[in-house]
Amino acid sequence: MSETIQTLLTEERSFEPSAEFATQANVNDPEIYNQALADPVAFWEGWAKKLDWMKPWDRALEWKAPNVKWFLGGKLNACFNCVDRNLQTRADKVAILWEGEPGDVRKITYRQLKDEVSRTANALKSLGVGKGDRVCIYMPMVPELAFTMLACARIGAAHSVVFGGFSAESLFDRINDAQAKVVVTTDGGWRRGGVVPLKKAVDDAIVMGCPTVESVIVLERTGVPGALTNGLPTPGYDRSGWTEGRDHWWHDLVPHQSPDCPCEEMDSEDLLFILYTSGSTGKPKGIVHTTGGYLTGVYATFQWVFDHKEDDIFWCTADCGWVTGHSYVVYGPLANGATVVMYEGAPDTPDKDRFWRLIERHKITILYTAPTAIRAFMKWGDEFPDRCDLSSLRLLGSVGEPINPEAWIWYLQKIGGGRCPVVDTWWQTETGHMLITPLPGLTATKPGSATRPFPGIRATVFNDMGEDLLASRKPGETVGGYLVLTHPWPGMTRGIWGDPKRFADVYWSRFADTYFTGDGAKVDGDGYFWLLGRVDDVMLVAGHNISTMEVESALVDHPAVAEAAVIGKTHELKGQAISAFVLLRAGYSGSDGLVDELKAHVAKKIGAIARPDDVIISAELPKTRSGKIMRRLLRDVAEGRALGDTTTLADPAVVNALKDKYESAEG
Ligand code: WT7
Repeated sequence: MSETIQTLLTEERSFEPSAEFATQANVNDPEIYNQALADPVAFWEGWAKKLDWMKPWDRALEWKAPNVKWFLGGKLNACFNCVDRNLQTRADKVAILWEGEPGDVRKITYRQLKDEVSRTANALKSLGVGKGDRVCIYMPMVPELAFTMLACARIGAAHSVVFGGFSAESLFDRINDAQAKVVVTTDGGWRRGGVVPLKKAVDDAIVMGCPTVESVIVLERTGVPGALTNGLPTPGYDRSGWTEGRDHWWHDLVPHQSPDCPCEEMDSEDLLFILYTSGSTGKPKGIVHTTGGYLTGVYATFQWVFDHKEDDIFWCTADCGWVTGHSYVVYGPLANGATVVMYEGAPDTPDKDRFWRLIERHKITILYTAPTAIRAFMKWGDEFPDRCDLSSLRLLGSVGEPINPEAWIWYLQKIGGGRCPVVDTWWQTETGHMLITPLPGLTATKPGSATRPFPGIRATVFNDMGEDLLASRKPGETVGGYLVLTHPWPGMTRGIWGDPKRFADVYWSRFADTYFTGDGAKVDGDGYFWLLGRVDDVMLVAGHNISTMEVESALVDHPAVAEAAVIGKTHELKGQAISAFVLLRAGYSGSDGLVDELKAHVAKKIGAIARPDDVIISAELPKTRSGKIMRRLLRDVAEGRALGDTTTLADPAVVNALKDKYESAEG
C-alpha cells in the first residue's frame, strides 16, 4: 500500500442520535473521550473497579511491547462475576433465553445458571480437570455450551471452543495444539432440519491421534434415529466410535453433581481461554486471553456500545465458536446481568423470516449481527421482515466486516424502522472487545463507518514508513493507511498459544511498539474511521489504491445487486484489473446489458479508474463457514489458475461452479 489510499467513494449521509435516545443513553457526555484519552489507564481502572475482585490489583498496567499485563496482582473469578454476583439482585431474572432450531425454548434464570454451571464444573472436576488445564468445547448453540465455558472459568480451566461447523481435521489440529484433556460435545446439532454429527467428528479426530484427551462428555441433543445427516438419511446417531471409560453421557455425569462449587481464585493474568483464528496463511493461531483485562473490556463495551438497560432482551446472533460469541453472548452480557438470547439454528429454517420471528416472539430489544447476514436478508426480500412485528427493537449492531452503506441503510430503515441507532463495531479475535465503534447516544453515525475509537483507545493510521498520518495531516484532510493501535487496552491478546515468535512477527514486527491490525483504514476530516478490509484486499490499479470494499459498495448500491465480491487480478498494463462477482436480487436476471450497466454504475460512483474489467453474475459466492468471502479463490478463478485449498469453504461446489461459469464467459 502506498502512502495514501485513494479516497474515491464519498459518503455524505450522517445520522445524529435522536434527542429521545440520547437523553436516556448510558453515556451522553462527549467529555468522556477527552478524559479517557488523556489517561487511558485511569479510565480502564474505573471500569475494572466495577467488577468483583477477591483481591485488588497492585499496579494497573505493565507494558513492554509485545508483552502486556493489566491489573497486576489482582485476583478474581470470571464466572463469579457473570453468575454469582447477579444472585443478589437478579436471581430470578432470565439469564439465557434459548431457542432451538426445532422451536423448543428454554429460559434459564441466574439462580438456575449458578446451579447448572456448578454441576458442570463438578463434573469436569470428577474427570480430573483443574486449574490450568484446557477443555475443548465442540457443541452447537445450546445452553450447555455456555454452562461449560463458565464451568471452566469457575474452576480455573481454560476453554478452547471450536465452531461446530469445523471438520474433524480442524478439530484434531485444535485439540492437539491446545493439548486438551477433555472434549465436551453433543451427539449432533440441528441445522436446516438436518443433524450435524458432532460426536462422530470427535471420534474421527481422536482416531487421528489426540493423546492428551482423557475423557469426552456427550450431551444428547438430537438423539433422533433416522434423522437427516447433511441431507442424507442415516440409521441414527453413529455409536461405532463410542469408547467405554473415555466417553460419558452428559445426562449420566452432570445432573447428579452438587449445585455448589467454589469459584477458584484466579490471577488477573491467568489464562481464561484460547480461541483459534484461521490466518490467511499457515496453521490456525491460538489467540490467548486472560481474565481481568478481558472481562473489564467486554463489561465496559457491552454497557456503553449497546446502551444496555436492566430490562433489555439482547441477541447477538454469533456462534460461540467465534470471539463475538465469547465476548457478546457469554462474558459481556452476563457480567452486566443481561438477558441474552441464544439461537441454535439457521436464519432460513423453517422460513426466511426466522430471525424476525425470534425478535417478535421474545420481544428482543437489541440485535447484533453481521453484514453478510444483512445482505442475505436484503436479497431474500422485504416481505420477510414486513410480516413480523419488530417494534420491540431499539438498537442495532453490526460486526465482522465492513458494512456496505446500502446494507447499513436497509438495516436502519427496514429492521430498525428508522428509529434504532446502528452501531458498526470494529474489533478482532485478538482485540478481545470492540475498539472502534459509535456510542449510540453520542456519536453521529455515517453509513459504512465504524466512526471513532472507543474511549481510552488510541487508534491511528500509519504509512509504509511507520509515520502517523493523523498527526501530520492538515485540518479536514482525509488520510488512509495501515490501522494500528499505539496504546495497550485491557482485552488485548496476550499472545499466540505456544508460539511467541509468531505473535511478535505477525502483529509487532511491522511497526515498533505498535500493534498492527492487518487492516487498512481511512480517516475522514471529522476523524471518522472507514475500514477498508485486510490490507491484502486492497488493489493497485494503474497506480491507484482501490479498496475491494469501495467497489463492492458501489455495486451493491445498484438496485439489481444483492451482494458483490471484488478482487484485483494480475494485468499486464495496469498491474491489477478489477474483477467483480455479483449476486442479483430476487426479480433480476443477468444479461450483457446489465453487465455494462453495472460497470458504468461503478465508474459513475467511484470514477473510471474503478470500472471493473469483468463482471460475473453468479448464483453464490465462496465463503468460509464464518461467512467471509474467500477472495483468494476468486483470484484463482479470475486468473485461470487451479483452485488453491478449498477445505475451509462452507460449500466447495460453489467455487467450482463459478470457475466453469467464468471460463465459459471468457471463452
Ligand atoms: C477482522 C477480524 C470482531 C469479531 C468478528 C471477527 C474485520 C470486523 C469489522 C467492522 C470492518 C471488520 C476486520 C478485522 N472486521 N469487524 N465493523 N468493519 N471490518 O473477528 O475473525 O478476528 O476478524 O474482521 O478485517 O481485522 P475476526
